[in-house]
Amino acid sequence: MMKILHLADTHYDQNTENLHYPASKEMVLSLFEWLKENKNSYDLIMISGDITVKGTAFISELQYVKEKFDALSVPYIIIPGNHDLCPLKEMEKRYPGIEEYEYTSLENTNFFQVFGEKGVRFSQVINQVHFIGFSIRNGDPDGTLSWLRKELETPYEKIVIGHYPLIPTRLDGFCSTWDYFRIENSLGDLKNLIFDETHHVKAYFCGHQHVNSIVKVNRGFHIETASAVLGSCSYREILIDNEKIDISTHFFIGENDWVGVLVSSETSHDVLHGDPYSYQRGNQNDLYLYIERESP
Ligand SMILES: [Fe+2]
Repeated sequence: MMKILHLADTHYDQNTENLHYPASKEMVLSLFEWLKENKNSYDLIMISGDITVKGTAFISELQYVKEKFDALSVPYIIIPGNHDLCPLKEMEKRYPGIEEYEYTSLENTNFFQVFGEKGVRFSQVINQVHFIGFSIRNGDPDGTLSWLRKELETPYEKIVIGHYPLIPTRLDGFCSTWDYFRIENSLGDLKNLIFDETHHVKAYFCGHQHVNSIVKVNRGFHIETASAVLGSCSYREILIDNEKIDISTHFFIGENDWVGVLVSSETSHDVLHGDPYSYQRGNQNDLYLYIERESP
């Protein structure tokens, strides 16, 4: 039995004022405390990016987070989100100092400088499950897709970790349309590769929109985990043995049941999630999932 913790959008901000996400300030600090106390419960920690707010402009934010996770001495997979490695040129015009495109090779970006090869192309078979983590920039200037295609061709069942949702995660409201443009030129290829049935991807884990969502795609599952420090303050636990992959969702104790300022009530409901609270937090089908393993 293997027990994994999945987190997303942990958004460490080194500023103490003028915060991009003021509501997360206390939760980010208590998250690191919680990790210290609970690390022994997990064999692996996977984080679907946006570990910082301004990592594309301030390498020190990325370095701080790496130090915190290194200190846990638990194996981890951390891949970058748009706040850690900006995927789209000219985003710095929209979010100066926060989401700055780095006009350089992947190897020269802040994220690669801190997390190295494993931070942008992670590949390891653990207990007969192939874990693949990837970074992607729009239009794929870093050759991620061809690398990913090769990795996906191994015979193992797979768990893939990225930052971006690849499909609409809600039937209506902001998550049905927001915010797929950042990697729009690579979205179709990614989705086709990851959910190609011959690749045996059991689940693709992502973050970005700060909602809990589980959607079946072909024979795999597209699983978005909400932010650990904003809105519903969520985390997932994944239990894997020879027969199953069992996923459950949990919520941090604290100021965790408010809707937050990221979503407005007009754009946060669909037929399955009638109010902003359940839209962010997710319903039962977004929170619990049992996946049968394939027989070897
Ligand atoms: Fe993001």
